[in-house]
Amino acid sequence: MNISEYIRDINDFPKHGIVFKDITPLLGDYDASLECLEQLVKLVGDKKIDKVVGMESRGFFFGTLLAQRLNAGFVPIRKPGKLPASTYKEPYSLEYGMDVLEIHEDAIKKGERVLIHDDVLATGGTARAACNLVKKCGGEIVQCNFIMQIDFLDGAKKLKNYEIATLLNY
Ligand code: PRP
Ligand code: MG
Repeated sequence: MNISEYIRDINDFPKHGIVFKDITPLLGDYDASLECLEQLVKLVGDKKIDKVVGMESRGFFFGTLLAQRLNAGFVPIRKPGKLPASTYKEPYSLEYGMDVLEIHEDAIKKGERVLIHDDVLATGGTARAACNLVKKCGGEIVQCNFIMQIDFLDGAKKLKNYEIATLLNY
């Protein structure tokens, strides 16, 4: 099965000129989402993972499934003001302006082996902020794992010190 058939292009979303990669057809199909999960698990290989970190919101879907399959815990990274306990905060750049991501300070123990997961690696701002948050907690980043990578945006440049694994390149 080719999971790319379940990812559709939506033109001019959220803004004019942007082609949005929509994974809702993938999420909506049991066989395709199971296949995607199995392929993501294969990217991890036999690396031992203690925690899977997923970024709000599209990193939550396969992030939680991956954590279950890898016998790991799941840790959410969230947009500001959503996490209830003490957090570390990390600013990151959006297309226009800045935003902040947060992680619970006690979500990852020092030395724990962490898999970062998100649906898309685009400019890399989100993933780099996530890596910085994991480092603040003392976690060891084993792999940054994505369904898709948008090559021309060169997000991999922002993750130079980490292993990147992706199922699809656009
Ligand atoms: C999208 C996508 C990634 C991020 C990639 O999330 O789900 O998380 O952008 O872009 P970057 O590499 O340029 O940082 P978005 O912020 O749109 O929020 P969502 O997941 O809640 O839809
Ligand atoms: Mg996202």
